[in-house]
Amino acid sequence: MFAISLGEGAELRPIEPWQAQEFLTHIDRAREYAAPWVPLTVRTKDLASARELLQMFADRQAADTGRLYGIWLDDTLVGGVLFRIFDTATESCEVGVWLEPSAAGRGLITKASGVLIDWAVDVRGMHRVEWMVSTANDRSKAVAKRLGMTKDGVLRECFPWQGVRHDMEVWSVLAPEWRKAREAERSGGPVRGDAAR
Ligand SMILES: CC(C)(COP(=O)(O)OP(=O)(O)OC[C@H]1O[C@@H](n2cnc3c(N)ncnc32)[C@H](O)[C@@H]1OP(=O)(O)O)[C@@H](O)C(=O)NCCC(=O)NCCS
Repeated sequence: MFAISLGEGAELRPIEPWQAQEFLTHIDRAREYAAPWVPLTVRTKDLASARELLQMFADRQAADTGRLYGIWLDDTLVGGVLFRIFDTATESCEVGVWLEPSAAGRGLITKASGVLIDWAVDVRGMHRVEWMVSTANDRSKAVAKRLGMTKDGVLRECFPWQGVRHDMEVWSVLAPEWRKAREAERSGGPVRGDAAR
């Protein structure tokens, strides 16, 4: 019903439990690519688990503790962005992302994450937006850099996943930093994270 254009035939839209079959079909295309990094792509294995995951995010949205959105490219669901954590008490949230491989390399995640961060900072008064990424996940780290985030540090071997204990990097951007970079961009200054592009 609602869609935000990401340009070149791409749109960011809500995704809800009634879209479980479309979500599952997309995850089937994304699973092999995203499974090493994104547990929900493994957890979503059939229609029931797809519906359960979307319902969990619908419940979190109702409670204002999390949100999930889909990215459509030429009307095909090709990826997602989410607030895995959304904590209005501490004014802190965490963004998570994935794509199916055919949609990579077009800037869709950078743009969609920017929409989420704009909303979190401008509308919801979030002060800190986090990005948690395995030290081994270079493509995701490149997005964090492109968004102008700063690496806060590393949580050593904190995430056991598929037989590996991943070191997780914590990246973040603070509201004043986000606004300053956006203002600079709008007045023709350097584009956020240019060095990472
Ligand atoms: C992480 C992941 C989402 C990044 O996808 P991505 O396509 O590299 O990221 P973006 O959509 O932001 O696109 C950036 C790419 O598009 C290019 N691009 C084109 N137009 C662009 C634009 N307007 N803005 C930014 N980048 C643009 C960039 O140069 C970059 O390409 P490059 O990597 O070849 O230099 C993807 O690799 C993925 O799904 N991986 C598996 C799941 C995963 O790891 N999730 C994250 C867990 S922390």
